[in-house]
Amino acid sequence: MTDVVLDSWIRDNWLAEADEDAAPELSGTAILIVDDEKGPRQALRRLWEDTNDTYVAADGREALELLESHSIDVMITDIRMPGMSGIELLRAAKKRFPCLEVVILTGCADLDTAAKAVEWGASAYLQKPFRNQEIQTHVARAMARRRRNVQRRNLERLALEANRFETLGRVISGMIHDLGSPLQVVSGYVELMMATPELAPFRDSLEIMQNQIQHCTDIVRSTMSFLRHQEDTLILLNLNEVVEACLNVAAPILRKQEVKVVRQLNTSLPFIQGDFVLVRQCVLNLITNACQAMEGQRAPQRLTFTTWSEDGYVCLGVEDTGPGVPAKYRNNVFQSFFSTKESGGTGLGLSVVKNVVDKHGGRVEYGPRNGDTGAHFILRFPQHDMEEN
Ligand SMILES: Nc1ncnc2c1ncn2[C@@H]1O[C@H](COP(=O)(O)OP(=O)(O)OP(=O)(O)O)[C@@H](O)[C@H]1O
Ligand SMILES: [Mg+2]
Repeated sequence: MTDVVLDSWIRDNWLAEADEDAAPELSGTAILIVDDEKGPRQALRRLWEDTNDTYVAADGREALELLESHSIDVMITDIRMPGMSGIELLRAAKKRFPCLEVVILTGCADLDTAAKAVEWGASAYLQKPFRNQEIQTHVARAMARRRRNVQRRNLERLALEANRFETLGRVISGMIHDLGSPLQVVSGYVELMMATPELAPFRDSLEIMQNQIQHCTDIVRSTMSFLRHQEDTLILLNLNEVVEACLNVAAPILRKQEVKVVRQLNTSLPFIQGDFVLVRQCVLNLITNACQAMEGQRAPQRLTFTTWSEDGYVCLGVEDTGPGVPAKYRNNVFQSFFSTKESGGTGLGLSVVKNVVDKHGGRVEYGPRNGDTGAHFILRFPQHDMEEN
């Protein structure tokens, strides 16, 4: 980059933005200050410690470790430090965390270093001594940019996810459609066997088979109408009844694993409007995941269902006593095809939950845990207003 180009770049990008984001809201973001001298490090920290999470590092290596273990939004680094220089740290940090905003501080500005700072993506380059107000403005601007980038990335991710789900929907709808015929044939034979006197000793088992076939047929029907965006399968639902229906279906696996079921169900729960089969499938997916997570666990396996209503939503919490979802995966678990199960996981269970709940106008979230361990998922559906009928 020539000096003239660099100069105008600095004017356009580092200085001109001052008017654009004069004083954006900065609280709640995490700032890392890197300086080998304790005095300046602490002085800078004091500027933000009341409003932000602040971290300090005495060298590049310590800074990189903090970036790995914490979610940092803005890094402020001195250039001249023993070992790794601020510019080398900038390069290593941006390679690993492209969205990180980096403000470079320097005692003696030279154009060559400034050019490298530009090339490697620094947000601002400040010459010492600077006024507190000056660095605060630069950091605030870096923060605003970081926010915009994070929002843009989230939107891109959502668009990608929606696209994947559309494609998946098309593939699945073909498969689901074709499942109807074999199910009908199996159902016909089971019915025939039930009417055969010699098979009377197997009647209970045949009835269970017939119920399960009906369950599959319901899923096919509901999924097809859901994919076609038909609304005729929406009925008034009581989430407590959905829970009971799921516990009925899941009874064999719960019994086999000796899972203790705890019901904390609000008896005066308002109704929601929904597709029974799909909502039941969501809860079943949560139960299946919980059972898989607790399988083989020595400590008592417990599954707690809690229902309540708040702020116009009817909520269902499903909490287990397994290892829980590690913090680093909590943003990924609702994406289709995300699975940590080496064998057997398609990674679709929770994305189906999210999609169905979204389409019902609700939302699903990973809730705060009430106990020491375990996963806690919360489904929120809009409460049905009885006066609408
Ligand atoms: N109750 C839970 N406890 C711990 N981790 C969980 C729990 N539920 C989900 N997860 C994590 O979320 C990931 C995604 O779950 P999801 O149900 O979407 O897919 P899966 O169970 O891996 O595969 P599939 O449901 O398609 O068979 C799981 O692989 C697991 O890492
Ligand atoms: Mg699953």
